[in-house]
Amino acid sequence: MAALLLGLLLLATHSPGVPSSGSPSTPAAIAAAAAAGTAQRLPRVIIIGVRKGGTRALIEMLSLHGSVAAAQNEVHFFDWESHFQKGLAWYLGQMPFASPEQLTVEKTPAYFTSPKVPGRIRRMNPDAKLLLILRDPTERVLSDYTQVLHNRLRKHKRYRPVESVLVKDGRINLGYKALNRSLYYVHMQNWLRHFPLESIHVVDGDRLIRDPLPEMRRVERFLRLEPQIHASNFYFNQTKGFYCLRQHGRERCLHDSKGRAHPRVAPAILQKLYRFFRAPNRKFFQLVGRTFDWK
Ligand code: A3P
Repeated sequence: MAALLLGLLLLATHSPGVPSSGSPSTPAAIAAAAAAGTAQRLPRVIIIGVRKGGTRALIEMLSLHGSVAAAQNEVHFFDWESHFQKGLAWYLGQMPFASPEQLTVEKTPAYFTSPKVPGRIRRMNPDAKLLLILRDPTERVLSDYTQVLHNRLRKHKRYRPVESVLVKDGRINLGYKALNRSLYYVHMQNWLRHFPLESIHVVDGDRLIRDPLPEMRRVERFLRLEPQIHASNFYFNQTKGFYCLRQHGRERCLHDSKGRAHPRVAPAILQKLYRFFRAPNRKFFQLVGRTFDWK
């Protein structure tokens, strides 16, 4: 709480020179924000991951709610030493301007798998509410691979075929980092050393893809927000193959980098992966007292 108060006090010290995520950056814009009664606040809600779980969809959908002010960019404050060393004043400067009744939210998917992050967030605010969006661990690995593949192709770099990354000497390649990110129980154990389970809401990322409204209703309840997100905020876009958003008559889909086709993997290797994740998944279900329909 002390840290939260510190953050509020720091509002007055916002430097126009510090780039902000989704916040006014020119002196005139800052003056207008102040006149409108808005200010930057430390987040009370953080989307902690997981990478490729659907974090962008979640924050965009949450932003449909009038009581939510979301940072547009991934801030990487608690996981990047170069950012963390700049201190809370810098972090605050990355937050959007919000009215007093709005909840400030930021998302940085790498937080979930970064060992130092839970303790650092707790020291800022032990009452922080955490949102964690997960999907089938095998799907998440393939999505992770696809993202790296596209980045490498864009930079004209070489890449390894998916099967040679997933399997080594006939066995699942435990050295592949993306695999570790899908061992959800390992990372969850670390978070539960710092936060009670009630402070962490797990969003079912597979269901959010198929039918976003019920998942968003659960998020509203967890955050104690009045239900404001409605079915009319979503429409299915056949071309994209995903739900897109509608607000104030404007329609928009997520960026092309969200919802990419994954590479085809030989069924035998896919089965190996599903089998590999079965025991870790059970451990995760025990930790959170809930099951998910992962294969
Ligand atoms: P794929 O691109 O592998 O399909 P993140 O934002 O955390 O990087 O997650 C990206 C994933 O969000 C996408 O992975 C996609 O499956 C999922 N997603 C969930 N809802 C979506 C939506 N409405 N539009 C596009 N992608 C969505």
